Amino acid sequence: MMSSVFPRPTEMAQAWLREILCAGDHAVDATLGNGHDALFLSGCVGESGKVIGFDIQEAALVASTELMEAQGIARDRYEWHQVSHARMIEFLKSPVKAVMFNLGYLPGADHALITVVDQTIAALQAATQLVQVGGMITVVCYPGHPGGEDEMIAVREWACSLGDEWHVVHYEKWATRKKAPALVALQRKEKSS
Ligand SMILES: C[S@@+](CC[C@H](N)C(=O)[O-])C[C@H]1O[C@@H](n2cnc3c(N)ncnc32)[C@H](O)[C@@H]1O
Repeated sequence: MMSSVFPRPTEMAQAWLREILCAGDHAVDATLGNGHDALFLSGCVGESGKVIGFDIQEAALVASTELMEAQGIARDRYEWHQVSHARMIEFLKSPVKAVMFNLGYLPGADHALITVVDQTIAALQAATQLVQVGGMITVVCYPGHPGGEDEMIAVREWACSLGDEWHVVHYEKWATRKKAPALVALQRKEKSS
């Protein structure tokens, strides 16, 4: 059987971010996990850019540092904070080009340590204050685990409530047997568009 031409939500998020990120940009990984998204962002912003990452678990910061070191990414190209992404604004003094969320739990770790609606929405709200014109927020949601569907609905409702300063997109594969992950993406409009 021919494989689908439709990318997974995680791949779709990366494809859109690749379109807008440039060398020298600053980008946020709001849910570091094992560091794969942070490594992707680092590749997009290059040696002159910076990735700022957040996770509540020390294990995520350790795993992400190990991945960056294994890939030869210099220490001054990233900084991690072991705090909730809801507090990101305290650690970011200038605008960023992108904020990436990959919700849910750290694979292979305690599934109770999971993103939760109130923190996620607070973090998204903070992200809207940080992202510069033309910049993007991506949120991959996982409705298949307990609480995940409610979180996805909350993210969608929040995104739909934003004013017309933002382009808002929802991307999801239909007719899968399990509740499929979905991507909510937002791009801050140019002033005149
Ligand atoms: C699906 S994983 C992220 C995957 C990761 N982006 C990667 O590329 O490997 C979700 C992560 O969100 C983290 N998390 C949960 N609540 C959080 C919060 N309030 N602030 C920041 N991170 C949180 C979890 O600890 C977990 O590591």
